[in-house]
Amino acid sequence: MNTSLKRIGILTGGGDCPGLNAVIRSIAKPAMTFFNATVIGILDGFEGFVEGRMRELSHLDVSGIINLGGTILGTSNKGDPFHYPRESATGVTTADCSHIVLENYRRWELDVLIAIGGDGTMNIAYKLAQMGMNIIGVPKTIDNDLEATDITFGHDSALAVATEAIDRLQTTASAHHRVIVVEVMGRYAGWIALGAGVAGGADVILIPEIPFKWKTVFDFVRKRSKGARFSIICCAEGAKPEGGELVVKERDAKRTDPIRLGGIADLVARRIQEETKIETRVTVLGHLQRGGSPTAFDRILGTKFGALALQAASRREFGCMVSLRGRDVVTVKLEDAIRRQRLVPPDSQLLFAARAVGISFGD
Ligand code: F6P
Repeated sequence: MNTSLKRIGILTGGGDCPGLNAVIRSIAKPAMTFFNATVIGILDGFEGFVEGRMRELSHLDVSGIINLGGTILGTSNKGDPFHYPRESATGVTTADCSHIVLENYRRWELDVLIAIGGDGTMNIAYKLAQMGMNIIGVPKTIDNDLEATDITFGHDSALAVATEAIDRLQTTASAHHRVIVVEVMGRYAGWIALGAGVAGGADVILIPEIPFKWKTVFDFVRKRSKGARFSIICCAEGAKPEGGELVVKERDAKRTDPIRLGGIADLVARRIQEETKIETRVTVLGHLQRGGSPTAFDRILGTKFGALALQAASRREFGCMVSLRGRDVVTVKLEDAIRRQRLVPPDSQLLFAARAVGISFGD
């Protein structure tokens, strides 16, 4: 038994994704069983940490949850403690509340905080580590855009949902000889659109990393309308035409990333129908990609991530993030994890393979 690890805090931050509960379980169960530690669940991410909302978790809380989507702790993408939003008469203002997080960490006598989240959460974790908190990150996000890990958990589940959706859209598009544009998540990284587009057999994939040319897209669907007579376009929410802008649905100053994207598929569909006169429809998958049960892959990866995060805590290896490298789960420095976003590289093997089977990227 490691006596220095008596009280372990866990939080889930940012947008949820399938597999969060698998991680919570694989931290909490061994912590309670082997370290005889008290596990404190911080509610609703950093928002709950600033507000001091936390509670001790029991064995029962973390039993039977490996297959549950969402997070038993709740989450939020609005509580960045370094820019904590407050409503005022003049609108939303932000203040540095990181000292309150530190106070709550001390008040609850935590020996370590394990923060499960995406790039926003890892950035906050890094800054809190600089302030002296013992902190370990676990990378989640359906977008798979975190540097320093080959994959984040949650991504595989989102791919499964998006692939099934494209399979279904294929048959209805074919029956009506239509173009269907399906919008998937992925703000700055096109991993979901690329993966699901390839797996679902999309004809065109539009991703943020490759700005598309309108004419290439129009010509492609025109040509297909004379052969296969239908086309599926899988479009990341962050895709944009050459020289064009991101399509922003909403701005919310309280969010860690104030921009909420959405609407590119509508624009693409409208332009295709206007230019080619081919009947075109839109499906936006939205939060379906984040909800529901994790795939077996995400349950297993989440379990490995959680167990290693606890092990790293027990050897007092703080300021790190657990990560998948090849087939191994390892730890990397938090500063390496936040250096940049993980985008689809131009020399990606999957891009190459997609082009090889005739998929257009509109470039
Ligand atoms: O970062 C994950 C993500 O799912 C993005 O792909 C998407 O743009 C965003 O979260 C949506 O956030 P919200 O649920 O706050 O609308």
